[in-house]
Amino acid sequence: MVKITFYGHACFKISSSKFSIIIDPWLKNNPQANISPEQVEVDYILITHGHGDHFGDALEIAKANNATIIAPYELATYCQSKGAKVHPMHIGGDYTFDFGWLQLTPAMHGSGYIEGDNIIYMGSPCGFLIGIEGKTIYHAGDTGLFGDMKLIGEKTSLDVAMLPIGGNFVMGIDDAVKAVEFLKPKIVVPMHYNTFDIIKKDPEEFKKKVENKTGTDVVILKPGEMITVN
Ligand code: NI
Ligand code: MN
Repeated sequence: MVKITFYGHACFKISSSKFSIIIDPWLKNNPQANISPEQVEVDYILITHGHGDHFGDALEIAKANNATIIAPYELATYCQSKGAKVHPMHIGGDYTFDFGWLQLTPAMHGSGYIEGDNIIYMGSPCGFLIGIEGKTIYHAGDTGLFGDMKLIGEKTSLDVAMLPIGGNFVMGIDDAVKAVEFLKPKIVVPMHYNTFDIIKKDPEEFKKKVENKTGTDVVILKPGEMITVN
């Protein structure tokens, strides 16, 4: 049994009976988050890209938990230089961990990290395919729609997909509906909307459109809510 908890924006915790993984742990300055970094207990931290609303409190959580950060090579190397335990990977690469299987997928986006007046290069942004306790979960990261989502849907039977719907920086609702048609997950959870005015979207519109066009169930989670995948 796998539990997926939403902490607002693009942050999710995935828990199996033995392991906990947090993805894109932006909590401290996240207006949607109802948990602080000090409350997070995890074994692994997955980061899709270097933007502050994803990188977030990763270093603090990594140190407090002695957790391993898994991220694209450049971003992982940056985290290592700040004292974190890391496992670098890259797009298309897969690896079997103690918690299960992981593969990095492409994401059409940027990945610079802003530090004062500098923009630090963090390599390519990514998404994650996660195999855990027999379930397969896809977190798309920040991305526009891309045709290879069809390839991911063909080669992988997805139990749950987390997809951005907020537009402006990432897919909007109609492109995210197309993504669901490509990916064919059993369940889709919308993310990356309503955190700021510029990404204001109605998740109920997404739900209606997806359920009209596909066999996928849309589960809208409020921050702090959880789904159980059996
Ligand atoms: Ni971003
Ligand atoms: Mn973002």
